[in-house]
Amino acid sequence: MNEGRARQEEIYLGGLRGRKPAVPIDAQQLERKAQKKMSRRGFAYIAGSAGLESTTAANRESFERWRIVPRILHDVSSRDVSVELFGRRLPAPFLLAPIGALEMAHRDADLAAAKAAAAEGIPAIFSNQASVAMETCATAMGDAPRWFQLYWSTSDELVESLVQRAEACGCEAIIVTLDTTMFGWRPRDLDLAFLPFVYAQGIAQYTSDPIFRRLVEAHESESLGPVTPRAVLSLIALARRYPGSFSSNLRSRRPIAGVRQFVQTYSRPWLSWRDLPFLRERTKLPIVLKGVLHPDDARLALENEVDGLIVSNHGGRQVDGALGAIDALPPIVEAVGDRIPVLLDSGIRGGADAFKALAIGARAVLIGRPYAYGLAIAGERGVREVIRNFVAELDLTLGLAGCTSVRDLAPTNLQRVG
Ligand code: FNR
Repeated sequence: MNEGRARQEEIYLGGLRGRKPAVPIDAQQLERKAQKKMSRRGFAYIAGSAGLESTTAANRESFERWRIVPRILHDVSSRDVSVELFGRRLPAPFLLAPIGALEMAHRDADLAAAKAAAAEGIPAIFSNQASVAMETCATAMGDAPRWFQLYWSTSDELVESLVQRAEACGCEAIIVTLDTTMFGWRPRDLDLAFLPFVYAQGIAQYTSDPIFRRLVEAHESESLGPVTPRAVLSLIALARRYPGSFSSNLRSRRPIAGVRQFVQTYSRPWLSWRDLPFLRERTKLPIVLKGVLHPDDARLALENEVDGLIVSNHGGRQVDGALGAIDALPPIVEAVGDRIPVLLDSGIRGGADAFKALAIGARAVLIGRPYAYGLAIAGERGVREVIRNFVAELDLTLGLAGCTSVRDLAPTNLQRVG
């Protein structure tokens, strides 16, 4: 296949007709253009990270230290970027990372992202903090691959219900995100005193869940607290956004009760290895742990019969001063060997980054913020363009490095400097 050259031709020939890509290819321009399309709060939420944002910087710096060492005079006219993951062949080693509250980027939110992933044949990972219920996204995706990302809440019943729904939606893996047992300390959001979930944004998987709804009912009779003008405005905004009619939402206290229930339910800081069998007993799907950075945790995951790992520091949003994700990869790959697939995200900004991760031993990588920016700029089409640009760059990098298949990549294709 020649995705890279096809994409170049499309863009350059478009240039002859006076067309430039609506979604910038350059990572920084992509972010800047998306910023213009988003509210201040929306951009702060998506772009922001923990503390001094040094982990986000480390994600990039560590990619910079790994350099590709191209080889010459190999026939690279035919190249293959497809990979196999949990019994499915994917056209390229990319997945869309689970990103919550995508409605802050675009009103079509997760639905647009899911359709874009389906159109490009790469898996969408439905976030537990999605703005659109997984059933709606799944219906729009046909047979295309999709996974579900779980935040392990304080309610086992809710965990079970979400996993059952994911299975019924045709999800092919359950990702358990383990680096967010609490929200990180994120100055951009703190300075705006804004968290989307408190405004009922990004809680669609909860409000569409029968178990969660039952939990909410128990709170509906509780007092609202002091009624200030600001509180009334917030209540109106919540009543608009929450499922159900505006007037019945205003009359009942459901939206407030729903948000309160979410705050009580979200995440379980006491989650431990002992809890994993609970999940194992409830699903046959592969269980993939996201947020692994230490090789000892990778070893423990193997002992606990986990099916896959995602090396990730959540794009630097959780622990400031953490290790750059790609630097965590080599010891984890060494600990795991070929036993289970290791994926990576955090700092992937183009196809060359994917090449590096795959050469170190990742099976595939997750695209994070860049697709949220594509979404902000041009909805479903914007996400598709970002995916196509990443695939094109990977394909060209592969060939220009003297390789013909991502499956042949090895650490010898790289050199670590500095
Ligand atoms: C995330 N991420 C995330 N992860 C997850 O497991 N569930 C979630 O709901 C979210 N939500 C979320 C929101 C936003 C706005 C961002 C930017 C990220 C983390 C995500 O899956 C992935 O790990 C990071 O996005 C990778 O970092 P980069 O490459 O985007 O910087």
